[in-house]
Amino acid sequence: MMDREHVPVLLDEAVRYLDVKPGGKYIDCTVDGGGHARAILERSQPGGSLLGLDADPAAIAVAARRLEEFGQRAVLVNENFRDLHDVAVAQRFKPADGVLLDLGLSSLQLDDPGRGFSFQAEAPLDMRLSLQQTVTAADIVNARSEGELADLIYRYGEEPLSRRIARHIVQSRPLHTTLELANVVIRAVGGRRGKIHPATRTFQALRIAVNEELDNLYTALEQALDILVPAGRLVVISFHSLEDRAVKEFMRQEAKGCRCPPSLPACVCGRQPRARILTGKIVTPSRDEALKNPRSRSAKLRACEKLG
Ligand SMILES: C[S@@+](CC[C@H](N)C(=O)[O-])C[C@H]1O[C@@H](n2cnc3c(N)ncnc32)[C@H](O)[C@@H]1O
Repeated sequence: MMDREHVPVLLDEAVRYLDVKPGGKYIDCTVDGGGHARAILERSQPGGSLLGLDADPAAIAVAARRLEEFGQRAVLVNENFRDLHDVAVAQRFKPADGVLLDLGLSSLQLDDPGRGFSFQAEAPLDMRLSLQQTVTAADIVNARSEGELADLIYRYGEEPLSRRIARHIVQSRPLHTTLELANVVIRAVGGRRGKIHPATRTFQALRIAVNEELDNLYTALEQALDILVPAGRLVVISFHSLEDRAVKEFMRQEAKGCRCPPSLPACVCGRQPRARILTGKIVTPSRDEALKNPRSRSAKLRACEKLG
C-alpha cells in the first residue's frame, strides 16, 4: 500500500491546549496517519504514552508504520471512539491526562476514489469508515422515503434545497455510484453554481448518517470527560458547523453544570460544573496555515479542562 500523507491541522495549538507533559498519558481518538500523535509522543518524552484509536483499519495500519519508532509508548487500536471509555480501561489509559479528537475524514480518505466519499470520482456509494459497519450510503439513498431523505439532507447537510434533491433522488433510483448521485443533485438544483460543488452538502449529509458521526461525537465527549484526570484536557478540532455546535454546547453545559430550565427558581438537578472552558475565543488556523493547507480553512479548535 502506498504510504499516505495527511497534514495535521492546528498541530501546535492542539499540543499546547493538551498541555502535553513528559510522562503523561494521552489518547488520540482519531489517530489516522499519526500527525498529532507523533507530536504528542515527542513532547511527552521521557515516559509518556499515547493510545491511538481509529475506526478505519487502513488508518491504523499507516499509523503503526509511522509511529513504529516509539515502540510500546504508542498503542494503536482499530476502534470507534464511541467506545472510548471501554477501550481506555482495557488499555490502561484511564485516567488520562489529555484526550484529542480531530474530527471528520483525512484528506487521504476523501481522496481515495474507492471509498465513495468524493463526488469527483466514480465509486460505489459506500462512505463507511469501516467494513464492519453494515449500512452504506447506497442503502440509505435507495431505501429511505423521500421525506426521510429530505430531512436527512437538510439536517446533516444544512442544504436548503433538500426537498427538491430528495424528490430527484427518489425519481432516479436505484443509484449505485457517486457520480450517478452527484449528477442527480446537479440536475435537481439546476446546474452548477458558485464555487462549491452542488453535491457537497448532500455528500456531507450521507457521510454523517452512514457513520453516525454526531451520535458518536456526543458519546465520545461525555466519555472523554469521565476518563480524564482532574485538570486533564479535552481538545476537539471540528470541520463543519454541526460538529462545532455540538462541541460548543457540550463544553458550555459542562462548564455550567445545572441543567434545570431557567423558569425554575432554584436548581433541582444538582449537577455541578465538570469543566472549565479554555478557548473563550475559538481557535482557527493562522493565515499562513490556511494558505499552506487549504483543508485547514474550516477547522475550529475548542478545549476545556476537567475540574477537580
Ligand atoms: C482528520 S483525520 C485525523 C488526522 C490525524 N489527527 C493526523 O494528524 O494524522 C480523522 C480520522 O478520524 C477517524 N474517525 C472518524 N470518525 C471516527 C470514529 N467515530 N471513531 C474512530 N475514528 C474515527 C477517521 O477514520 C480519520 O482517520
